[in-house]
Amino acid sequence: MGRDLMGSWEAKRALVEEYLDRWVPSQDTPPSRLHQAMRYSLFAGGKRIRPVLALAAAEVVGEEALVAMPLACGIEMIHTYSLIHDDLPAMDDDDFRRGKPTSHRVFGEALAILAGDALLTLAFQIMGDLSLYPSRVYPERVLGAVKEVALAAGPLGMVGGQVVDLEMEGRSRGEGEEEALEWIHIHKTARMIEASLKAGALVAGAGEEAEILEAYGRHVGLAFQVVDDILGCQGDEEKLGKPVGRDVEKGKLTYPALYGVEASSRKARELIDHALEILGPLGERAWFLRELALYVVDRER
Ligand code: IPE
Ligand code: IPE
Ligand code: MG
Ligand code: MG
Repeated sequence: MGRDLMGSWEAKRALVEEYLDRWVPSQDTPPSRLHQAMRYSLFAGGKRIRPVLALAAAEVVGEEALVAMPLACGIEMIHTYSLIHDDLPAMDDDDFRRGKPTSHRVFGEALAILAGDALLTLAFQIMGDLSLYPSRVYPERVLGAVKEVALAAGPLGMVGGQVVDLEMEGRSRGEGEEEALEWIHIHKTARMIEASLKAGALVAGAGEEAEILEAYGRHVGLAFQVVDDILGCQGDEEKLGKPVGRDVEKGKLTYPALYGVEASSRKARELIDHALEILGPLGERAWFLRELALYVVDRER
């Protein structure tokens, strides 16, 4: 496939879309409002970075991407549920996501909550369905990978991060904020990115690559959220497909709020340099991950 990051990303993204479409019940499946709401958010045009990383990790280990497809799709469903709930009035109270009005604006709060619940549950059904994996995939590997995703998404991972993000909202400046901010970002964002890589690696039968990919994911994941903060205060709403300036309005604890934009960009850059160093032992096999890390700091959406 050559060294074309965007071409390879696009091919993986298209494959993920195809399988999501296959595994998520159609719009007219009763209750159709629920399935419409699930599909509305899922197919609104996300970048699919997490599932693409899961597929890429399987390839780095020497397997074909398809061994990680149920995990990749499950991870994207969990991510989409987290966005639907993140935008609710009780949380970030946002009106736009992925270039469209948020789920609760279109379907109402109750259905937005339930569409999120349904995506989260369906994710575990898909990830745990052995019939969806190539037959050579060992069940124990699937089990280990699913456990990683559950850990990353749950109370000790993303949900925990979201709780502390909300607790710190609107607080006046105080001691320990640097540590709190890093903790929030690692939990609400980096853990799922890290788990995407680790799950893809585990299901493909990774040995020592698993730890390398996990450490790479932690650094790229933290950089990804630092850049999300920067874009959230000075990005282009059209390109981002979500509102700019909300973090300041809501008094969120973010990297730009604490350190300014310049220092935040430097921090993201340092994290990416570290991520590239971590990939060293994988050599040429990891070209896609290397290119993707560089993209993360320069991205506009
Ligand atoms: C947005 O994630 C929320 C964060 C954790 C930063 P993405 O930037 O991956 O959003 P989509 O999936 O492309 O919409
Ligand atoms: C979202 O964090 C993290 C999630 C787990 C959903 P933010 O609230 O900072 O992300 P955006 O800017 O709304 O996408
Ligand atoms: Mg939030
Ligand atoms: Mg938000």
